[in-house]
Amino acid sequence: MAAEQSAVLLDSAFYQPANTFFPAQAGLALTYDDLTLSTLYSEILPRNASLDTELAGGLRLHLPVISADMDTVTESHMATGMALNGGLGLIHYNMPEKQQLKEVSRVKNHVHGLIQEPITVAPDKTVGDVIELIETKRYSFSTFPVVGDDRKLVGLLSGNVLKPRYAAKQVTGALVPRDQVQTIRQSQLGADPIAIADQFFTDHPGINKLLVVDDNDELHGLFTLSDIERITTEKLSQFRPARDDHFRLLCGAAVSTPRNDDGELDRERIVTHIGALIERGADVIAVSTAHGHSKGVGDAVALIRAAYPDLPLIAGNVTTAAGVDYLADKGANIIKIGQGPGSICTTRLVAGVGIPQMTALYVASQAAKAKGVSLLADGGITKSGDIVKALTLADGVICGGLLAGCPETPGQVMEISGKLYKQYRGMGSLAAMKSGSAARYGHAPRDANRKVAAEGIEALKEVSENLDQLLAHLIGGVQAGMGYLGAATLPDLRAKARYIRISPAGQKEAAPHHVVEMKASS
Ligand code: XMP
Repeated sequence: MAAEQSAVLLDSAFYQPANTFFPAQAGLALTYDDLTLSTLYSEILPRNASLDTELAGGLRLHLPVISADMDTVTESHMATGMALNGGLGLIHYNMPEKQQLKEVSRVKNHVHGLIQEPITVAPDKTVGDVIELIETKRYSFSTFPVVGDDRKLVGLLSGNVLKPRYAAKQVTGALVPRDQVQTIRQSQLGADPIAIADQFFTDHPGINKLLVVDDNDELHGLFTLSDIERITTEKLSQFRPARDDHFRLLCGAAVSTPRNDDGELDRERIVTHIGALIERGADVIAVSTAHGHSKGVGDAVALIRAAYPDLPLIAGNVTTAAGVDYLADKGANIIKIGQGPGSICTTRLVAGVGIPQMTALYVASQAAKAKGVSLLADGGITKSGDIVKALTLADGVICGGLLAGCPETPGQVMEISGKLYKQYRGMGSLAAMKSGSAARYGHAPRDANRKVAAEGIEALKEVSENLDQLLAHLIGGVQAGMGYLGAATLPDLRAKARYIRISPAGQKEAAPHHVVEMKASS
């Protein structure tokens, strides 16, 4: 008994909980590599550790990772991939507002069982026209409902006939006629259309398309067997996609906060654009700036909150308790923490300002607890171990550079000396500010064409594995960390974390050393 007690005392003298550890370091700012977590007795198998997180009422993720609202990181392709893996993508705003709406729609309309507006073809087209359509639009499917001008279903054009030898044939002469196409009335779908479609495909072996029509035989949707199968298997998997109540993928969008000529926030434009984003299905809006603890950002957050009382709203960035209090009081529910840690950031060099992440997160977390808001650790994450450390104080992490080499990011792949790269640039780099993000760094758009101090660089990232593979590795790492701490859930991880600082020699010891590395770990 006495020996057990002294073991506990000994451990707690060295490996301390956040509330003892961080205040003891007051005056010294620490980041991920400055500290490590101690192991604890565990009964948790890593693969059983849950990464579910709730960022705001109704906004739940199964993976606490968010792709950054940067123009070289998150458009619809990346946001779709993030949500399919249980996380979230924030569509950036360096694009025309209309384009941003389309990007959100693409994510929200991604296969969710019933394709409500299937691409159709007209009966008077030729098979050659349809082949050309597939090529120019790069469709990944090749079966098309055929509908007339009156929207009534005429038949189904199957991929089997889309061959050059039939190119001259009219669609009417190549389609499966209406009376042989399997359909279901919209009114028969009930409260659980997926279950109905699932049962239909079980009852009709060999059929893989089911069309939805109304009483006038007008087309209203399409189920495909492969979508339904994907959905039914994903319901059983641990890392299921992050979806809304209508089974659509979650999607976030960042907004700029434009001003009128007289310098006032352009209320109408901001509210209208956010309204349109919500109408397209955006689940969360982010006001991303370099200095969130400022009147302009506070006013914008308050304006958005007044217009949309129930909207999950992300705001930032701050690194102080007062900054968290300020944005929470203005109406933000999720606050981004990070000033200068980003891999492309130069804020600390240019402005001499910013706080290393773990200290910033600790200070912010104290205010967040009191205000009932959640925190995102934004920037500086380079490996899964950083995510584990961040999640001991935050509810989620935002990654830019870690994801920027994935094929799912916007931008072309370029080859330099036999290696493949993608562009990755700071939103405070001159090039990005010229494309629209100047306000994020407190500059008017026209300033970006003059001489302003850029706070970010333009860089390259080597093309990495695809997003699914990369996230699988990150998830494995985070679950391993939770297993070492005996944490079954993220709240457990926060409660159990014990920290100790590491010396420069300890940091060296943490990475592979005194070996010739044959294959770098991912
Ligand atoms: P990582 O380290 O994941 O960081 O690449 C991404 C985060 O960095 C922030 N960001 C910037 N910060 N100047 C800055 O000081 C910039 O130009 C810049 N661009 C992005 C942003 O918070 C992002 O999520």
